[in-house]
Amino acid sequence: MFPFLLLLSLVSAASAWTSLEDWGSGNVTASVGDSGQCLCHVYLPDTTFPASRVEHMQQVTKDLILEVNIQINKTDSYNGKLVIFLSELKNLTIRVSILDSSPDKYIKLDFELLRIELREFEALVTQLKESLNVTSPMFDSLYVEIRNMTLIVNQLESYDKSNLEVIRLEFAKLQKKLEDCQKEQEVINPDIGNCNHNGIVSLSKPTVTQFNAHLSATHYFGGWGKDSKPLRGYESMYWYGSYTGPYIYDFYLYSDYDKLILRHSFKHHDIPSGWEGTGNNYIVHGNTIYYQHNTPFSMTKLNLTSSKYDYRVIPEASPRFSYSYSSNQNMDFAADENGLWVIYATEGSKGKLVVAKIDVPSFGIEDTWSTTAYKQLVGNAFMVCGVMYATRSVSLNREEIFYSYDTKSGQESQLSIPFEKFQEKYTNLHYNPSDQKLYMYNDGYYVSYNVKFN
Ligand SMILES: *[C@@H]1O[C@H](CO)[C@@H](O)[C@H](O)[C@H]1NC(C)=O
Ligand SMILES: *[C@@H]1O[C@H](CO)[C@@H](O)[C@H](O)[C@H]1NC(C)=O
Ligand SMILES: *[C@@H]1O[C@H](CO)[C@@H](O)[C@H](O)[C@H]1NC(C)=O
Ligand SMILES: *[C@@H]1O[C@H](CO)[C@@H](O)[C@H](O)[C@H]1NC(C)=O
Ligand SMILES: *[C@@H]1O[C@H](CO)[C@@H](O)[C@H](O)[C@H]1NC(C)=O
Ligand SMILES: *[C@@H]1O[C@H](CO)[C@@H](O)[C@H](O)[C@H]1NC(C)=O
Repeated sequence: MFPFLLLLSLVSAASAWTSLEDWGSGNVTASVGDSGQCLCHVYLPDTTFPASRVEHMQQVTKDLILEVNIQINKTDSYNGKLVIFLSELKNLTIRVSILDSSPDKYIKLDFELLRIELREFEALVTQLKESLNVTSPMFDSLYVEIRNMTLIVNQLESYDKSNLEVIRLEFAKLQKKLEDCQKEQEVINPDIGNCNHNGIVSLSKPTVTQFNAHLSATHYFGGWGKDSKPLRGYESMYWYGSYTGPYIYDFYLYSDYDKLILRHSFKHHDIPSGWEGTGNNYIVHGNTIYYQHNTPFSMTKLNLTSSKYDYRVIPEASPRFSYSYSSNQNMDFAADENGLWVIYATEGSKGKLVVAKIDVPSFGIEDTWSTTAYKQLVGNAFMVCGVMYATRSVSLNREEIFYSYDTKSGQESQLSIPFEKFQEKYTNLHYNPSDQKLYMYNDGYYVSYNVKFN
């Protein structure tokens, strides 16, 4: 909305200037009247009312209002185009990732297609730039990057792995730029943090950000995401951890998205002996990592501010029931608009999911709710606005949210909200209330989804 804001300040500057011109030679005094009301006295240098100047001012105001409307209309159309542009670019990113993961399937035609699509993007950005007719540094750099991408693709004469790596990186950067552009348009999304909706209606197509930072095809187990309640100054931090089995022995922190893509962590937490975890359903909330620990079987936290560890045993939680894609997934941590949660199964519930609310200051369980979803048939679960959603497999590349449980009303629902998977299995799926996205660690890939609410 920046052009709009710009114009508003123009309106006030223009009217301030007009009033100075028109009334500058008079003077104004203020006093308090008999009954306490505020009295304002204006002395005009001339007794004739300057009707023509007022008329002129009214015309100027009308023109400015019209101009503001034109700019609002432009911004609306710009936003619409940006959304389409972004979804196309995401599609392209997925295709580049596919190329990257299966180099033997690579065909020369793909480069040709990439080249054509980049040309289209370039034309689109030019068109957007012209229609908006304002200079934005973000737009300019986006334009330069698309030009650069085109050059890089054009320079590629034959396939080799390092070239693909370059393209993938450039695409990821481009995608981030576009997202920033979109954010700049939204300024503040009033829906973030708001639970004024009736739950999830659909998920977007998956956005495949990149292959894991270890660049290892055997690191099937892990997680990635952002802090769901970041401390001031850590709003753009990303976290990641991955392993070749269902254990947890270290975590990486990245200061922002670019650093994540470049695999330049600012902190590597090597978990000390005795504090290692398991299950991979961890999250970061309030600069603290919450994860499952097996000796003793408990929920554990690593405070990233103090680097201190602490744990709490949940006596009812059972280590016997895991989600369907991986073993040892007994405690699944979740954060939503209402705070921190842990989802597990108990012997008493006969393996059905129990949702527990965590009291952050005491690190204790505040309340629990029993559901009828049998844990071993569930792929993963997450919380949104106090509602637990559970997923399950439909096929190798399709998944669905099939069940929800509302902790406010105790109401459960059978759902069928389908979504695509990039790879077959995932060991970490969670919602982040700070950007209303789902984050998934999908057989070694960082994948995310936008959530659409009713
Ligand atoms: C206000 O205007 C009157 C008439 O021109 C003048 O006598 C008076 O000094 C002015 N007062 C101030 C504070 O400028
Ligand atoms: C803005 O768009 C609306 C709806 O498309 C239209 O009715 C209105 O005339 C447009 N305003 C201007 C100033 O172009
Ligand atoms: C994504 O690309 C594929 C392959 O080119 C195409 O079939 C599909 O329609 C595209 N989807 C979108 C949303 O552009
Ligand atoms: C773009 O803005 C400039 C000045 O800011 C103006 O002179 C020009 O006519 C505008 N172009 C269009 C197409 O609106
Ligand atoms: C574009 O490419 C040139 C030459 O490779 C490089 O110097 C420049 O930094 C790149 N610009 C951007 C925005 O990536
Ligand atoms: C983490 O440690 C900091 C500094 O000691 C403390 O202020 C904060 O409350 C701790 N957070 C949690 C969730 O334990």
